[in-house]
Amino acid sequence: MMLKTKDILTLGELTADEFDGLLKSTIKMKSENNIPQDRPLQNKTLAMIFQKPSTRTRVSFDVGMYQLGGYALSLSSSDMQLGRGESIEDTARTLSRYVDCIMARVYDHSSIQALAKHATIPVINGLSDSFHPCQTLADFTTILEHKGRLQDLRIAWVGDGNNVCNSLIYGAALSGASLSVATPQECQPISSAVRFAKDHTEIQLTENASEAARNADVIVTDTFKSIHDTDGTRISKLFPKYQVNDSLMSLAKSDAIFLHCLPATRSSEVTSSVIDGPRSVVWDEAENRLHSQKALLRQLLSD
Ligand code: CP
Ligand code: NVA
Repeated sequence: MMLKTKDILTLGELTADEFDGLLKSTIKMKSENNIPQDRPLQNKTLAMIFQKPSTRTRVSFDVGMYQLGGYALSLSSSDMQLGRGESIEDTARTLSRYVDCIMARVYDHSSIQALAKHATIPVINGLSDSFHPCQTLADFTTILEHKGRLQDLRIAWVGDGNNVCNSLIYGAALSGASLSVATPQECQPISSAVRFAKDHTEIQLTENASEAARNADVIVTDTFKSIHDTDGTRISKLFPKYQVNDSLMSLAKSDAIFLHCLPATRSSEVTSSVIDGPRSVVWDEAENRLHSQKALLRQLLSD
């Protein structure tokens, strides 16, 4: 199945069927072979632009392109003319003449929108201040692998209503999973994501972490201090009311799993007992970044 959209900026570009198809093809590719013999992206190139640091996104896209027979260039924005003030528009136009796809990790979400608008090739959001769609593809793949279904599952997000949370909301909407989002009042997710979800599934916003975690099948959190977050006082405000610890996990179903996109700060948003414990699936989740990116690249770039 080919995707109708040129770009993946939020996941809102996908239909529910396309989202489901991507997860299924991720699981199929993972089970079959890491290195498809037919090299589906032979001679295809991916430019990866980083305005921010990255381990998982950088390595999984790079290795994913290699395994599909293509080639990836890792570009730090500070080493590009972009870092000296060349416009995003001109960068998009130039790269469109050299490569087949752009993946970018940016600060303002408007930067990835501008890249997509002015590039004639697909643009993938590798994280903006507002969204992290590739993380959501891996997260829902991981949940599907461990739970065998997505519809009717109860997912709880506990912590900051950040980029990963905003994208998880799109994932819930596209999969039909119900989502309870527990954040402080001043750290709520983006209202456009919440509106999108309300049209498609059951979503609840609360300030009470216990309320969200109760009877959950899945508990998800992320750092209290995102890369773009310059206000260090937010951590002390959030912590410990939104920490995922044994006490919070005990409110969830006995077979509930724990997800975290990583990097994690143990003893801040999550205790070691949870993230390193038996209900944590964070290493499967990290691995699935590779498989889900390969499925996405294949669908966006195959001839
Ligand atoms: N989860 C994630 O996107 O990790 P990186 O910041 O290491 O890419
Ligand atoms: N919310 C985090 C996610 C890192 C993968 C950040 O933006 O820094």
